Amino acid sequence: MTKRKKKMKGIILAGGNATRLYPNTAQVSKHLLPVYKAPMIFYPLNILIKAGIRDILVIVSPAHSGRFLNLLEPMFRDYGVRILSTVQEIPSGLPEAFKLGEGFIGNDDVTLILGDNIFEDTETISEAIKNFESGGHVFAKKVSDPERFGVVSFDEAGTVKSIVEKPEKPESNFAVTGAYIYDNRVVDEAANLKPSSRGELEIVDLHNFYLKKGELKMSIIEGAWVDAGTEDSYLDVCILAREKELYENFDPIIKEAIEKGRERFKAMSKKMLK
Ligand code: TTP
Repeated sequence: MTKRKKKMKGIILAGGNATRLYPNTAQVSKHLLPVYKAPMIFYPLNILIKAGIRDILVIVSPAHSGRFLNLLEPMFRDYGVRILSTVQEIPSGLPEAFKLGEGFIGNDDVTLILGDNIFEDTETISEAIKNFESGGHVFAKKVSDPERFGVVSFDEAGTVKSIVEKPEKPESNFAVTGAYIYDNRVVDEAANLKPSSRGELEIVDLHNFYLKKGELKMSIIEGAWVDAGTEDSYLDVCILAREKELYENFDPIIKEAIEKGRERFKAMSKKMLK
């Protein structure tokens, strides 16, 4: 039983061009590349499903639009998990998820996860989703090179004091990771955002909306967090998945869906042979 009464929707941002992984991503979306036992997108999907979310929107780039639905929709249909997909024409910033997802979100709250972020500690995030009541909630991870990230500073009670994008002099060693929970106000806030000087809508502007109201919470995550955007971090994520047996931590729904899918796949191969 979850504590919350309002419904929570989930969005996975799996668009972008993944130029840093070219030519691996010339024909395949980064989010469908194998990460040991399952395509990358299964890892953020796992967090949402573990948290009890059953309505999930996958935002994809025009080049790869059909493939996600072909894979995911039939796989999870029988388990009460509704997976939809929509195209983001141009990767113009993370908050666009809430503009593209406006109709999907409706009056509900929403969790956004970046499709290339892999977390060892899925529990902290899925529990925060289950217990979410209102405001915003971000997840921070201690890093050795905070200047590369959005950096969060907070007081002893865990109240967020500031979030600064790629600061020259970071106020803490805690980076904001790619999982965010917001109440329904995020839809209107995202609709009113203006692009930054680099021409993108910025997620930090959404955080600041909640921060100014004193309604931004933060949890520190344990274990590894990898953003699989470069060749090296992609390799790291594959090794992490094997060494930490991340597959074992998949929700029973996902494990069963994969097994059933495997049986269908085998049966289909046999039929084709005949
Ligand atoms: P990035 O790694 O910033 O972008 P990318 O995946 O296109 O890679 P590259 O820089 O190599 O070209 O994106 C982080 C994640 O967020 C990734 O999973 C793609 C997703 N994303 C979108 O889906 N839409 C967007 O507008 C942005 C900015 C990111």
